[in-house]
Amino acid sequence: MAEHESLEFGKADFVLLDNVSMDEFMANLKLRFEKGRIYSYIGEVVVSVNPYRAMNIYGRDVIEQYKGRELYERPPHLFAIADAAYKAMKRRNKDTCIVISGESGAGKTEASKYIMQYIAAITNPNQRAEVERVKNMLLKSNCVLEAFGNAKTNRNDNSSRFGKYMDINFDFKGDPIGGHINNYLLEKSRVIVQQEGERSFHSFYQLLKGAPDSLLRSLHIQKDPKAYNYIKVGGQIKSGINDNADFKAVADAMKVIGFTGDEIQTVYKILATILLLGNLSFGVDGDVTLIENTKLVSALKDLLSTKEENVEKAMLYRTVATGRDVIEKQHTVKEANYGRDALAKAIYERMFCWIVGRINDIIEVKNYDAKVHGKNTVIGVLDIYGFEISKTTGFFEQFCINYCNEKLQQLFIQLVLKQEQEEYQREGIPWKHIDYFNNQIIVDLVEQQHKGIFSILDEACMNVGKVTDEVFLQGLNTKLAKHAHFTSRKLAPTDKTLEFDRDFRIRHYAGDVAYSVVGFIDKNKDTLFQDFKRLLYNSSNPVLRGMWPEGKLRITEVTKRPLTAATLFKNSMISLVENLASKEPYYVRCIKPNEVKSPLLFERHANVRVRRAGFAYRQTYPRFLQRYKMISEFTWPNHDLASDKAAVKSLLKSCGFEHDVAYGNTKVFIRTPRTLFSLEEQRADMVKRIVLFLQKVWRGTLARMRYRRMRAALIILRAYRRYKVKSYIKDVNRRFKNVKNMKDYGRHVKWPTPPKVLRRFEEALRSIYNRWWAWTLIKSLSPEERLQVRAKVAGFEVLKGHRTDLGLQRSWEGNYLVSEWDYPDTASSFTLISGELQRRDKFMRVLFSCNVRKINRFNKSEDRTVLITDRHLYKMDPTKQYKPMKSIPLYNVTGVSVSPGKDQLVVFHTKDNRDLVVCLQVTKSLTNPFFLCSEKRKLQVNVASPIQCSMNGRKCSIVVEPKINQSAPDFTKSRSGYILSVPGN
Ligand SMILES: Nc1ncnc2c1ncn2[C@@H]1O[C@H](COP(=O)(O)OP(=O)(O)O)[C@@H](O)[C@H]1O
Ligand SMILES: [Mg+2]
Repeated sequence: MAEHESLEFGKADFVLLDNVSMDEFMANLKLRFEKGRIYSYIGEVVVSVNPYRAMNIYGRDVIEQYKGRELYERPPHLFAIADAAYKAMKRRNKDTCIVISGESGAGKTEASKYIMQYIAAITNPNQRAEVERVKNMLLKSNCVLEAFGNAKTNRNDNSSRFGKYMDINFDFKGDPIGGHINNYLLEKSRVIVQQEGERSFHSFYQLLKGAPDSLLRSLHIQKDPKAYNYIKVGGQIKSGINDNADFKAVADAMKVIGFTGDEIQTVYKILATILLLGNLSFGVDGDVTLIENTKLVSALKDLLSTKEENVEKAMLYRTVATGRDVIEKQHTVKEANYGRDALAKAIYERMFCWIVGRINDIIEVKNYDAKVHGKNTVIGVLDIYGFEISKTTGFFEQFCINYCNEKLQQLFIQLVLKQEQEEYQREGIPWKHIDYFNNQIIVDLVEQQHKGIFSILDEACMNVGKVTDEVFLQGLNTKLAKHAHFTSRKLAPTDKTLEFDRDFRIRHYAGDVAYSVVGFIDKNKDTLFQDFKRLLYNSSNPVLRGMWPEGKLRITEVTKRPLTAATLFKNSMISLVENLASKEPYYVRCIKPNEVKSPLLFERHANVRVRRAGFAYRQTYPRFLQRYKMISEFTWPNHDLASDKAAVKSLLKSCGFEHDVAYGNTKVFIRTPRTLFSLEEQRADMVKRIVLFLQKVWRGTLARMRYRRMRAALIILRAYRRYKVKSYIKDVNRRFKNVKNMKDYGRHVKWPTPPKVLRRFEEALRSIYNRWWAWTLIKSLSPEERLQVRAKVAGFEVLKGHRTDLGLQRSWEGNYLVSEWDYPDTASSFTLISGELQRRDKFMRVLFSCNVRKINRFNKSEDRTVLITDRHLYKMDPTKQYKPMKSIPLYNVTGVSVSPGKDQLVVFHTKDNRDLVVCLQVTKSLTNPFFLCSEKRKLQVNVASPIQCSMNGRKCSIVVEPKINQSAPDFTKSRSGYILSVPGN
């Protein structure tokens, strides 16, 4: 039961009709057709109604919908059945076949092409070049076969005039690896004559309309089809066929398939030969038969690559062997005409078979070894000519075609019945006899040994002496007089639709058809004079010669009587049916919508009856449950019963359908469609809710999945960070572990680059390390050294970057003047004075003492001494035992200025603007006044040049200038202040 198609489109499966009446069948078919649903099912059979318009239902998107799906999962379609056949082939290793039947013009050939396209589209997912090549050949072969085997008829502009059965071979992977085409009975009489409104085979018109002029000239033919007797009937017909474009397409396809240039040329030559043969006319001169238009003979000899006299002789004479003697018998005009037509038909038919053979050579599976590659399976597609029923009487060909359809119908009924019966047996459900139309009786009427129509025909043909079609009809009348499906005017004299001595009628399963016996004998004998075969075999064109191997026989060689056309056809049909019966069959029934009232529908009806006689629907328990389990609380979401069968039982019981079902071994059978529709309705109701439920669950799942992914990412991130931090810390640890024992306490150790998050941490770490390092250095110092270091640090801090020479490398003594070593003569008196000052002024420590050169406000430069304690700055006179001259409390000293150079200029700034400008006198150890800075008090230190200062309130500036002849630094006056001249070089 097809999903996704509501009942507004009618019932997708005819089996589900409430009443199987012709009216209801037709109404459903019509409704579906009008709604654009050209496909329906009868059980597993696809019914296809020819839409006569392009339908947008064969595209890639539709193919995807059907790929790998079960039949009932999607609306009816050719693709569904193609997929079913393919799946059976691939999964179960079965050879399958798809039988397409229906009357002429119902859409069989189109259907077969869509099926092939589908198979080509779903196979070879790996795009293997070899497989693609095979697929291309298989698809292209259609184009060539249709050009030579199809013709416009009154029923169909592209009617197949031959039967085609094509096997596609697949390897174990399910990819096509080759194929084989069987062709059946080409309607070759069409080569020489067509009914009003019909054409000969497309190939002739294509050649005339499409070939370039040069080619036509070389073939001795002209563009106009009306110029040729054999095809002129169709030459004037207007139709939508584009012969010109088709010619090129066919030539291209032949090239792609692998026909050589010579082969294609030979095909054209044969077509031209036939056209010219049709114009060949015979006359008599006395008792001599002759060719009236000898010019044509010369063209023919060219086309056939032979000699003119050979052509002429073959046309006019027949070689007969009587015992050892060989005589040449001249034709009558009638015989010559007969021979000419027979030749035209024969070479066309031979060429057609040769083309099929060539295609087979090329597409045939090569290098396949079942031991290596596994079993090679096939899907066969049968596109055979459909039943031909017309108001006019039919001929031999129609008789054969209709017999073929009888046989296929027989096979179809048998297989459907057989399948049905076998299914009931398998499932253990009692089989009820089904009444259906069995057409075996008609098949027998045609093909039975000795009694059948073909036998009677063959018998008539074997008669020596005058054999006529009437004699054959008499045979039928006597032997089949009592047959329920045979009649003729003689047997039913009141039936005026049949002509005396000409017509007979068969009651086919699809309806009554009248046939005229005219031509039966000739067509059955299908005589072709040996002379023609020899003519063609002796051609110097190897391609042509290859088509006629039997021309090799010499005339005296006794040959067996060749099989008649009817017998050949019968045998080919029997073997076709055997072949089909050995495969798993799938059916497509094509219907013409506008002739839908034809009795043809009877058979379909029968088929529905077969399927509906018992149960309308059946399904395996698991599948049934899968589809309907939501209906019942016992089965939703999963049942806990012993088996699926038990679950289905309880489901159906809870719905109250017990009375309408039967339980098979693996399948449940439902008798009436009502029950099924009711199940479907309930299901549709529940599905809405389930969809909501599924949406809910799925959304939740999605969110959870997203959450889990995010969390995982976070965990990974965290772990990674931790790892980076850890490895950083480890690294630091490793590098600094031993710094205590290093000479420089790890000053040279390079810091690893920290991860971003640890930048602040690294700063802190570095500062901890620096403190530790500094502390390690400082802790071993004596208190004096500490003071000194503190002073140096203070000095460094204020002067760093401003002054070139800081003297940091030297020891900072501070109280220089007490050094006995530097000042052996004065040290003791200085010590004495500073001791007095300490007592008087109560200072704690001497920070600095030094002799200086000083400039005063009267521009006088003098030697002085500066003593700085923690309370005062003293100015003393070194020449008078350091007599103190002035003391400035330190809190009045507001700042110190020095120059950026190496000189020893120092300006002490005071609050009262009486700045003290001195130049320190350098001794062995250099001095600096920065002990001041190490005091808690903040001292303003300037580094500048010139230095601005204030002498008793007067602003002045001091510059340092090196002078070459200066022995010691000294001050002189300048315009704006003072110059300290220092020794220069
Ligand atoms: N599925 C289809 N879609 C469109 N047109 C179709 C379809 N089937 C058949 N036809 C039309 O009907 C014509 C006859 O179909 P065809 O397959 O040749 O008939 P058959 O082989 O049964 O004699 C095609 O040429 C085409 O115009
Ligand atoms: Mg066809």
